[in-house]
Amino acid sequence: MAKRALITGFSSGIGLAYSKYLVNESWNLDLVSKNEDRSKKSEMILNYKHANFHNADLSKKESIANIVTNFKTPDLIIANAGIAINGAIGKLSDIEKNEAYYLMCGGVIDLIEGFIPRMIEKGSGRIVIISSIGAITAMPKSSIYSSIKSGIYAYGKSISAELKNKGISVTVSLPGYVRTPAHKKAGLDHLENKVPKWMWVSAETVVKETEKASRAGKAEIIPGIVYRITKPFLKLQSAIRIWQSITRRNQ
Ligand SMILES: NC(=O)c1ccc[n+]([C@@H]2O[C@H](COP(=O)([O-])OP(=O)(O)OC[C@H]3O[C@@H](n4cnc5c(N)ncnc54)[C@H](OP(=O)(O)O)[C@@H]3O)[C@@H](O)[C@H]2O)c1
Repeated sequence: MAKRALITGFSSGIGLAYSKYLVNESWNLDLVSKNEDRSKKSEMILNYKHANFHNADLSKKESIANIVTNFKTPDLIIANAGIAINGAIGKLSDIEKNEAYYLMCGGVIDLIEGFIPRMIEKGSGRIVIISSIGAITAMPKSSIYSSIKSGIYAYGKSISAELKNKGISVTVSLPGYVRTPAHKKAGLDHLENKVPKWMWVSAETVVKETEKASRAGKAEIIPGIVYRITKPFLKLQSAIRIWQSITRRNQ
């Protein structure tokens, strides 16, 4: 029988690339995103009869509760939905911060913890969490994003160890710059030109390398060779200064 995957944030970028990857492998899919127009367009692109398409705002607790209560138990969870929230210290409102925290950290935890008892009962399953390289490096003017991604990274690594003997693998993926609509949606379109070409990884590469790591039962993957090579230098002050100058707006 075909396996079932749940992907959050399927309508563009990494989530859409993941959906295409699993369509090619004939998975049954539960696909969730918020914006109805984007969802419809992506549904047409995927054109796949073994997928259920859902619209829900995953920054809200009730949306996650609804998924956990009403969806079939997945064999694979891809917790991917997210936004590139950014702003200098104190510039984001409480609502912006709380929603972003729930969307990319608290809600991911609720989703996973909602399904874990049933996955343990089945004795198998995989969980993939799309965090960010920002979880392990300083991100000036994106401190909230960085702290959210670090929180879910720490959670993912911990449950990965905890679930090892229960037949469930948990893999946290830490991508660097990925060519997706995320930056434009967040008003960061200047990054397209400012960040050097060699620093961009495709969504397809992220999916391919993350899936390979998940199937191998690895707890963590940094997709893209360039980020794997530079990882030891990411904590250096000079690297942080270079990153700041690359990402700064000109005006
Ligand atoms: N792009 C990068 O450089 C990069 C780097 C590191 C990590 N990441 C992470 O990768 C993940 C995917 O990002 P992406 O770059 O592929 O961005 P993207 O192309 O903008 O896709 C984000 C997906 O998340 C969904 N989403 C956003 N807010 C939502 C909400 N409140 N409720 C339900 N769905 C929501 C979007 O749906 P809608 O169509 O409804 O907006 C979309 O399907 C994120 O967690 C991001 O932090 C991205």
